[in-house]
Amino acid sequence: MKRLVIAIDGPSGAGKGTVARVLASTLGYRHIDSGAMYRAVGWKALRDGVALDDEDAVVALVESSVVHIDTTTVTIDGHDVTRAIRTPQIDKAAAAVARLPRVRVILVDRQRALGAAGGVVMEGRDIGTVVFPLADVKIYMDASEEERARRRANDSAHSGGPKAVAEVATLLTERDRLDRTRTASPLVAAPDAVVIDTTDKPIDAVVEEVLGIVKRSQS
Ligand code: DC
Repeated sequence: MKRLVIAIDGPSGAGKGTVARVLASTLGYRHIDSGAMYRAVGWKALRDGVALDDEDAVVALVESSVVHIDTTTVTIDGHDVTRAIRTPQIDKAAAAVARLPRVRVILVDRQRALGAAGGVVMEGRDIGTVVFPLADVKIYMDASEEERARRRANDSAHSGGPKAVAEVATLLTERDRLDRTRTASPLVAAPDAVVIDTTDKPIDAVVEEVLGIVKRSQS
């Protein structure tokens, strides 16, 4: 059976990560969280004191960095940053480096190489629009702002502990605004993506729905 490229895009807290993970393990595909690449770059820029808006400096940093991603671990130059990249500080740093067009070009190239052989579920913001415009399956997941903030606030892997929903909502809204309004590859649904609103849907139901779409595109 053909091993597909499955693109899952949408804002934070829409449920992409969980759905992409379950989908990949059900299909025996590789799961790639492209956001973790931007996060790892943001982490290294902060560590090295590189200004997040200095495009030349961040480009040099990315070019000399080896980022490795698998389902459980993210490393940059051999440093395990799996947990360190899930903090509010890195949320901001990742959004800042993701605005830089030349940084995106390099990371998009690497993402294409990772998905070139198919058999991949890649999640992000521009996977169906820029990275794989010819992806076999394109899903755009969304949920109400309130529900996304609630999920993120309860995500201990992200925040290091439960946080007030209102506090998370403010940060999330600001980061979404950055992702949606940047000039380079803003967050937008591809015209041919299937849009799934996950606000009131259990994850299992979303996974079933996406598996149905995948099966139809394989037959
Ligand atoms: O999905 P995430 O929150 O881990 O993504 C981190 C940041 O990187 C976020 O600001 C969106 C950005 N991003 C992007 O611009 N393009 C992608 N393909 C993935 C993430």
